[in-house]
Amino acid sequence: MKFTVSVPASTSNLGAGFDALGLALKLYNDFIVEPADFYSAEIKGEGEEELPTDEKNLFIRAYRSTMEYLGKNQPIKVKQINRIPLGRGLGSSATAIVGGILAAQKISGKELSLPEVIDIAFKFEPHPDNVLPAYTGGFVVAATNGDLTYLKLDWPKELKIIIVVPELFLSTEESRSVLPETYPRKDVIFNIQRVALLLGALQKKDYSLLKEAVKDRIHQPYRCDLIPSFWEVLSEGYRAGAYAVYLSGAGSCIGAIADKNFDEIGKAMTSVFDALGIESRYMVLDVDENGAEIKE
Ligand code: HSE
Repeated sequence: MKFTVSVPASTSNLGAGFDALGLALKLYNDFIVEPADFYSAEIKGEGEEELPTDEKNLFIRAYRSTMEYLGKNQPIKVKQINRIPLGRGLGSSATAIVGGILAAQKISGKELSLPEVIDIAFKFEPHPDNVLPAYTGGFVVAATNGDLTYLKLDWPKELKIIIVVPELFLSTEESRSVLPETYPRKDVIFNIQRVALLLGALQKKDYSLLKEAVKDRIHQPYRCDLIPSFWEVLSEGYRAGAYAVYLSGAGSCIGAIADKNFDEIGKAMTSVFDALGIESRYMVLDVDENGAEIKE
């Protein structure tokens, strides 16, 4: 048995929807898996120098944890073709977690329910906004309170995401450590209003509202210092015609939402990093609607 698990990148938060909104993107990590006598991983592409290839490998850890849950044991070797930059807020870790859980289901021949998948995934990453879209695809709202409640919403096909990728590694842990424990009521209200506005603007296709809708007081004002000229990159994105510009997940990537001028927007935003001597690139991505898939 040899198969490939293909798992999409995701961009989360989308401004005000901290830990609640996630969007799967057409950029994939592939995991080629086959049973073996012992555990090993080979990594090609993003992270090939840094990521562990032994039992500390995240895909292998998620796979083993799922097999343990299923009462099974079968070592594997995995070849990872990584296309998603690491430590940039694009859900690269989530692809390894979701991929490992799916591989265990395939090898054991047992299917897990979504709540079971999420329970296992949360042991490795306790926020749903990358894991869930990586698994289900699409534009997802997640609500957690012990259990997970979620809803997959329609994403307007004409809207693409321009992802600007600076050469700045930022772990989610580091990027969460700068956030306060509590927030003033006015800031919480500010974000609630804008998440509601964002979902409404997308439903009504009134994209002129998106700029206001992605404003946020929960995470971006605290994380902006981790990314040089963050606000200037946002301004350049808007100047070049983006409807919305926001920090992707925990960063350091910055996402822009647009239905035209994709390259102009990408170039305008990367030019800010160029001026600072920080290497960067951009990708123009459509939304993935299928989520993680197993290919024989
Ligand atoms: N919502 C998370 C954060 C991203 O912003 O820290 C990863 O789940």
